[in-house]
Amino acid sequence: MSSNEVYLLWGSTGWIGGILQGLLRDGGKKVVVAKARLQNREEVEKELDEHQPTRVLIAAGITGRPNVDWCETNKEATVRTNVIGTLGIVDACWQRGIHATLFATGCIYEYDKDHPIGGRGFTEEDRPNYDGSFYSKTKAIVEELLKVYSNVLILRLRMPISDDLSERSFVTKIAKYHKVVDIPNSMTVLNELLPLSLSMSEAKLTGIYNFCNPGAISHNEVLQIYKEEVDPNFEWSNFTVEEQAKILGAGRSNNFLETKKLEDEAIKLGHSIPDIKTAVRQALRKAKAKLVAEGRFPDGLPKKLGPGNK
Ligand SMILES: NC(=O)c1ccc[n+]([C@@H]2O[C@H](COP(=O)([O-])OP(=O)(O)OC[C@H]3O[C@@H](n4cnc5c(N)ncnc54)[C@H](OP(=O)(O)O)[C@@H]3O)[C@@H](O)[C@H]2O)c1
Repeated sequence: MSSNEVYLLWGSTGWIGGILQGLLRDGGKKVVVAKARLQNREEVEKELDEHQPTRVLIAAGITGRPNVDWCETNKEATVRTNVIGTLGIVDACWQRGIHATLFATGCIYEYDKDHPIGGRGFTEEDRPNYDGSFYSKTKAIVEELLKVYSNVLILRLRMPISDDLSERSFVTKIAKYHKVVDIPNSMTVLNELLPLSLSMSEAKLTGIYNFCNPGAISHNEVLQIYKEEVDPNFEWSNFTVEEQAKILGAGRSNNFLETKKLEDEAIKLGHSIPDIKTAVRQALRKAKAKLVAEGRFPDGLPKKLGPGNK
């Protein structure tokens, strides 16, 4: 790859953007942190023209705090960033012939009769069938429109897991809940897949990719691995999707995404992607080692939240 590559990164203050920035810096790449708000087209264009990036990475977006329920009561703000802002930046890149990589979501599907639990998964060609949360709805709408752009790589992440016990990691989140549902899902182990995303950006791949480790893993399987690798005293209990719905402001998608397209591309780019169960175990083993090395074990382990998973 040419050493003249310049990455302009949106979302550097976020979880995934922060990891991307670290990977780029560690890899000796030139990375510029963007400051413009996505929806401010004029400012976005100014930054593109000033920095003349060869690659744009968009890890910016509204995810909601403390969770996606926030989007249900802040719909305009959610549209402004996740729809208007995301379309605007990809369009501005397209006008300038700049390749853009969007860190998107696979939470736009739910199991149905043609894609049952344990059966075949959703491919990149399947139409989204989940709009049970406003967050997911905006993400599916914007993906449908972005598909027409020839300069964008859309990576559908799901339930990301890091190799630490970050508050944002799916494992940490569910370890804090009093009760969890138990449904197999596709998930993205970030330390395995984010380096691949940078290779895909370098190779200027375009189109949609289900950006998850191969296979599916259930909540209980994740927590069992957590118990085995991190905290042998960990206990949890389950509840049903119907019981869960009573404590949530919006629905949550559960699905399995096919990853053959991603796996084939990974091989061409010289990456191997471990299956989800192996990847979760490896990530949690590293997380425990970090905690111990930092002298934060066991005090740094996730603590259960108050009643109702809040
Ligand atoms: N975390 C997940 O569970 C998950 C799962 C699947 C997909 N994803 C997708 O991955 C992307 C990054 O997720 P994340 O977890 O890293 O999110 P995050 O930690 O919430 O960070 C979001 C980032 O986006 C920036 N941002 C928000 N609105 C913006 C705007 N209007 N203009 C410019 N920057 C804006 C934030 O900056 P400020 O703090 O300055 O607002 C922050 O840097 C999101 O689009 C999300 O949909 C995340």
